[in-house]
Amino acid sequence: MRQLEISDLITAVDPHTGRRLPVQRSEVMRQLREADDERAARIVARMPTDEDGVLDPYAVDRLVVLVHTELQRLSEELRIDERLVHVLGPLLAAIRATTGRSGPFRLVDVGCGLGYLVRRLAATGALGEDVELVGVDLDGTLVGEAERLALADGLDCRFVHGNAFDLPEAATVYVSTGVLHHFRGPALEAFFQAQAASTALAFCHFDIAANRLAPIGAWIFHRARMRHPLGRHDGVVSALRAHDDETLLRAASVPGIRALVYEPRGMSNPFCTTLRPVIGVRPDLEEPLRRSLGRGARRLVGPEHFAVGAR
Ligand SMILES: C[S@@+](CC[C@H](N)C(=O)[O-])C[C@H]1O[C@@H](n2cnc3c(N)ncnc32)[C@H](O)[C@@H]1O
Repeated sequence: MRQLEISDLITAVDPHTGRRLPVQRSEVMRQLREADDERAARIVARMPTDEDGVLDPYAVDRLVVLVHTELQRLSEELRIDERLVHVLGPLLAAIRATTGRSGPFRLVDVGCGLGYLVRRLAATGALGEDVELVGVDLDGTLVGEAERLALADGLDCRFVHGNAFDLPEAATVYVSTGVLHHFRGPALEAFFQAQAASTALAFCHFDIAANRLAPIGAWIFHRARMRHPLGRHDGVVSALRAHDDETLLRAASVPGIRALVYEPRGMSNPFCTTLRPVIGVRPDLEEPLRRSLGRGARRLVGPEHFAVGAR
């Protein structure tokens, strides 16, 4: 059975212009039924449309913001910012030492949603004052909400509506949370190639660790912490769609990038490690990163750990 997330189907934007595109409810339901997911089709059937059957964009926006607000609770409980700082702190130390630059270093959160990670990093200042924090998302409503929340808290960070790989200013490091599993096959490869082709020095993308417990864990978590059926549905599907370590290492092993996974399967407790990062560094950064991680470097493995060949 093909697994589809409802949230991927009910909004559509032109990836180059960011312009919102109309979405036919019947078309979304057709795709979900084709994927044998009647329950998801019923959730969509309850969403309002205009007389031509196009999903009401305002209702969709309200729902997307609601679901992402619930999703933020998971990020809070999983302490995603602390997990990122745990590896990004040493990575930035390695970048400072290797480049000899004093900054500013630009962190770009790809698909920032409501910007929780960027806002939290701005609030804690955990990465240092020389790190500029930027969140980017193709969804203008989410970016608008992220900006509003940052402004309300007087945070030093910014948000951009658009494609994270089309920014006028290059990123030093690309990061993301919960985004990788949305890309499949060639789209996943293009995601990593875009970063290798940029002037960025590294990336660090956290996503659900694929293991047999993940769908059960996701079901319990989303049942307990999320209210809307769409959020509950997509949460479990996300865990089912999560990429395994080998797939991520293979896709991220593009020329000019050394791909690594931190705390891979077999080196972490599957009950605790719900999210783990795939990291990519320019090859001369690997040794400084390992030195900077200290004992933690033992948990950083490349494709050879799984005998995954580079493409
Ligand atoms: C599931 S959401 C993740 C939201 C957020 N990271 C979180 O943890 O709450 C995935 C987001 O990635 C965005 N996205 C996908 N590709 C993108 C790109 N190339 N540039 C900017 N945003 C992108 C989508 O618009 C979507 O809002």
